[in-house]
Amino acid sequence: MLGQKVLLLGVTGSIAIYKAVDLASKLTQRGALVDVVMTQSATRFVTPLSFRSVTHRQVYKDMWDEPVELEIEHISLAERANMVVIAPATANMIAKLATGIADDLLSCIVLATKAPVLLAPAMNVNMYENHVTQDNLAKLRARGFKIIEPGTGILACGATGAGRLADMEQIMATIVETLETPQDLTGQHIVITAGGTQEPIDPVRHISNRSSGKMGYALAQAARDRGAEVSLISGPVNLPGPAGVRVLCVQTALQMKDAVMQAVRNADALIMAAAVADYRPAEAAASKIKKEDQAEKFLHLVRNPDIISEVKEEVLKVGFAAESEDLLENAISKIQSKGLDFIVANDITSNDSGFDVDNNRVTLIDRQGSREDLPLMSKLDVAHRILDRVVALLATRELGN
Ligand code: PMT
Repeated sequence: MLGQKVLLLGVTGSIAIYKAVDLASKLTQRGALVDVVMTQSATRFVTPLSFRSVTHRQVYKDMWDEPVELEIEHISLAERANMVVIAPATANMIAKLATGIADDLLSCIVLATKAPVLLAPAMNVNMYENHVTQDNLAKLRARGFKIIEPGTGILACGATGAGRLADMEQIMATIVETLETPQDLTGQHIVITAGGTQEPIDPVRHISNRSSGKMGYALAQAARDRGAEVSLISGPVNLPGPAGVRVLCVQTALQMKDAVMQAVRNADALIMAAAVADYRPAEAAASKIKKEDQAEKFLHLVRNPDIISEVKEEVLKVGFAAESEDLLENAISKIQSKGLDFIVANDITSNDSGFDVDNNRVTLIDRQGSREDLPLMSKLDVAHRILDRVVALLATRELGN
């Protein structure tokens, strides 16, 4: 049962919309409060009355309709939704969402909501396979939207291929799974660092490392999905900022330190997945160093501050340790030396885990020395396992106060 969860069902102009009436009905039968929002073209296929008849609720279709209550409708709809589902999602709606266009009620709601968003595309095979549509879907996926791939078969237009709205069963299962994600970080502010820092040598060169930011971004996404307010402090990476997360971009360790110190002032937990450079060039040259300048003379390094050790606020502190040898010993000694609540020991000896891949193999170690070895899993799953511990430790702290 979906016990009184508010589900905003967006429907757009595709012939597959008739299946959305069934979806709205099934969701209502399972106890969800379904707010249906139709685009103008959707109303050409099916009338609002069909949705109202199965949901027993008002159907929304125009930004400029007189609101039922005295509130700004697209904002209140966006805020009260526990989840937004757009099924069917046309190529046009997907393109608008990917570029942030908000020219109708549904696209405004998606821009304004902090709830998870699920898209179930349905369209002609050529439109679906067009690289513009695929790029837009990739962008949205990277921002944390869930996408249910369309099915393959004979399409309404007569063509055969991918483009059919996914099976109702599959859509329902994804909705239930998303709504069942515990909201156990609601009211908590979590600061997460991600990516590597870059320490300039001169205007064209820097010292850095192989961190892609994937681990930290997965943590931000998972914490957001569990209801946290998330500040993500990110070194230079190639990833779009997850929707609903405050992203602060930095380049150097010193900049990361300033951003962390500022953010932890009103935070409950700090999780440092970033690979911070331990050293920086004492001085960055103002102009490009030439071969003839005897470059070796310019590289005098000085220590960067250890950011996490310098955080004295009463926040839960979680560190990472990426090690190529003596993983557990090194990680355990960092718990002590950096004053951490627990550490994520990151095995970087194999190619399938650690830097710049989608999966990770880690061991969680706490101050008491208890260890949990996790098998190879996606960085998003690792993030949830880390957050399970954060939730438990935050609860213990609250009991102690
Ligand atoms: O970004 P990805 O490609 O997804 O890769 C993820 C990762 C491998 C970078 C990540 O999972 C990871 O292990 N990050 C920590 C990297 C590391 O080696 O940290 P460290 O052992 O140098 O530092 C230990 C802890 O102190 C870390 O939490 C680090 O953020 C922090 N630290 C380090 C140096 C410094 N000057 N200040 C710090 O706060």
